[in-house]
Amino acid sequence: MAILKVARMGHPVLRRKCAPIAPSQITGAKIQGLIRDMFETMAEYSGVGLAAPQVHNPVRLAIAGGEVDGDGEPVYRVVINPEITVLDDDHKLGMYEGCLSVPGLRGWVERPAKIRVKAWNEKGQEEVFTLEGFPAIVMQHECDHLDGVLYVDRITDMTRFAFETEADRFLEEADLDPEDEAED
Ligand code: NI
Repeated sequence: MAILKVARMGHPVLRRKCAPIAPSQITGAKIQGLIRDMFETMAEYSGVGLAAPQVHNPVRLAIAGGEVDGDGEPVYRVVINPEITVLDDDHKLGMYEGCLSVPGLRGWVERPAKIRVKAWNEKGQEEVFTLEGFPAIVMQHECDHLDGVLYVDRITDMTRFAFETEADRFLEEADLDPEDEAED
């Protein structure tokens, strides 16, 4: 197990289209070791997800969280060679996204709120599942990394791109609780 170095915005590894992983290699030592190290790295930096290119491995593998199980414990999905289908293009969900590769910053991004994901899991099995809400946002953010796309590319209003502390103080409340704001 090892905590890996996280590539930061500007490093070309974050801008590459990543290579698919042969399904026969998923259960091999190399990919299994990478998955373990990515989990350890994500925990170290309190990430809700992590994509392989963020740790200098430009392959189509990502971990995405945001879900909880029946006991309220966080659930993380490992997706390999994922394919995303948008299920409802009309319903978008906006939030301030952050990224371990863009430390200290947050930006408002709107994405489809409901998706279907087809991917191989860490056991080498092909899976299809549906995500809605926050877990769908996390999954799309992580899968974007596999195509060299960062959330900053998806910010349409640059007045809502800010340092974390300023976003917390000045932006989040106004954007996320418009009704509360109106009552004040
Ligand atoms: Ni990210």
